[in-house]
Amino acid sequence: MFISLEGIDGSGKSTQAKLLAAALGSETLLIREPGGTSAAERIRELLADPSLEIDPFAELLLFSAARADLVSRVIRPALEAGTHVVADRFADSSVAYQGGARELGTSHVLSLTDTVIDGLWPDVTVLLRVDPEVGLGRADGKDRFESEGLDLQRAVAEAYEEIAQIASDRVVVVDASGTVEEVHERVIEAVRSSG
Ligand code: TMP
Repeated sequence: MFISLEGIDGSGKSTQAKLLAAALGSETLLIREPGGTSAAERIRELLADPSLEIDPFAELLLFSAARADLVSRVIRPALEAGTHVVADRFADSSVAYQGGARELGTSHVLSLTDTVIDGLWPDVTVLLRVDPEVGLGRADGKDRFESEGLDLQRAVAEAYEEIAQIASDRVVVVDASGTVEEVHERVIEAVRSSG
């Protein structure tokens, strides 16, 4: 089973991805995007540097390059071997951040991303919904997107809501307020009921 966790910065998805992967058992691969291969980790460093100015479409292509490498060399082989894969961000992040917040257009980025991942969408995507002000308060503010402030996080949150409607067969929205344990229970329930 292929599960992705999505949400704005500070939504708690990295913590929840770790807990979900542990709950699914030892035959589970936890990956984070961008990253997961040597080349993708190098691209992650580049993208995380707030001092670099990057054209939005170039930014999308960098995320896409990292993702294409990860899908073909790690995710697809793992799924074919029967391993569960839990992704801390995946394709929907590009739709929300580059398509929505960077205004490249959600449907345009959706179709490009479909090509990048060769149609390998997650079986379930858990969207952790949190108020952008709360999320930004939790995030450490160091990466390029967090440092751009509340308006950007609001635009990302809005795009995620649009994705949840467009892909309602795959995306389950989970309330990310409360304790880590409470949210974990909701995530498990969301995965169970959609699987
Ligand atoms: P992180 O919050 O998981 O560390 O992700 C790093 C940042 O990269 C985060 O602010 C979201 C952003 N991002 C995109 O803009 N597009 C993408 O496709 C992905 C995977 C992440």
